[in-house]
Amino acid sequence: MTSFITFEGVEGSGKTTQIRRLAEALRLRGHSVCTTREPGGCPIADAIRSILLDPAHGEMAPRAELLLYAAARAQHVAEVIRPALERGEIVLCDRFTDATIAYQGFGRGLERDLISHLNDLASGGLVPDLTLLLDLPVEEGLRRALERNALDDGMREGRFEQEALAFHNRVREGYHHLAATESRFRVVDALGPEDEVALRVASAAAPVLEEGP
Ligand code: TMP
Repeated sequence: MTSFITFEGVEGSGKTTQIRRLAEALRLRGHSVCTTREPGGCPIADAIRSILLDPAHGEMAPRAELLLYAAARAQHVAEVIRPALERGEIVLCDRFTDATIAYQGFGRGLERDLISHLNDLASGGLVPDLTLLLDLPVEEGLRRALERNALDDGMREGRFEQEALAFHNRVREGYHHLAATESRFRVVDALGPEDEVALRVASAAAPVLEEGP
């Protein structure tokens, strides 16, 4: 049974929309679904999220950033993800441990061994059954993210969206590396209309959609 599905991708890859659509499709088939996100998903992790994404915190040390993501994850796994899996729900999570490898490892250049160790500690060894990487060129993703921020009156947190293009390209490269080495990854082309991407997501998640509740 595939129960824990994570969505990954660079900024503006459309994860939030596609999670909502996959959740609707799964519910129509009778599954109980929990949708959540990282960093965040519960009050303590949401409070850490506001510290992490505040554009005023440009000077945050990379190791402090890494530890805050780990702290948010430890709380989120304990309070939301594990209990939902224990209740027999399918959990769709917007980002998880792979984001830390891509952003803090490939993006910031922190040691990969240290990150793996912290990921294990924070997740208690929980590994997704399936990871969908919504892939698109970073220029297009950032264009979409900036457009979305403008629509939100600039109220969204945007510390990462202010990073240089080279940073986001390293993050994308990190995701491609993970997708090539971890068999649980499926790469989904995130370019094109939302409906088309939703069809690609549904086909990548077909084994789950076909399983009964
Ligand atoms: P979001 O924009 O997809 O909600 O993600 C919030 C930001 O946090 C995004 O820029 C990626 C970043 N991030 C990390 O750098 N490391 C992590 O472990 C996670 C979960 C997110």
